[in-house]
Amino acid sequence: MSSIENSAIAGDPKELLKAAEQVRENAYAPYSRYKVGAALLAASGRIYTGCNIENASYGATICAERVAACSAIAAGEKRFVALAVVTDGPAPGPPCGMCRQFLAEFNPELPIVLGNLHGKTVDGNLKDYLPQAFHGQFLGGQGE
Ligand code: THU
Repeated sequence: MSSIENSAIAGDPKELLKAAEQVRENAYAPYSRYKVGAALLAASGRIYTGCNIENASYGATICAERVAACSAIAAGEKRFVALAVVTDGPAPGPPCGMCRQFLAEFNPELPIVLGNLHGKTVDGNLKDYLPQAFHGQFLGGQGE
């Protein structure tokens, strides 16, 4: 863990956290009441945001991190340099396993900063959250 001042996050980690905090307001979470916001910085310098979107058929829920990644990819960006995730809780919440795998597809060494609404932050990296990720090369050349 390190302070926001010497964060490994590219660009301005505070700006990325702010974007995640703002988009969190748009979360649709009537079932868990746990709102999440994510902001993904692409190599172009653009920031793509996402919030969690729940569903009455619980398994159809999509996490904030994947919404942000899908938004970036749909806009033509696949090179990601940093991710911020903001939740409300005593400690910032790390991305779930499915989101870790989803993000590792594009940057297995993605720097991640987690934040909560009380200003707590945790600096990390996807390679530590998901060691030995499954990658396309295991498909024997069938991956991209
Ligand atoms: N959630 C996220 O948006 N990101 C995560 O990485 C963890 C979980 C959402 C899914 C669901 O809407 C709520 O948080 C509770 O699991």
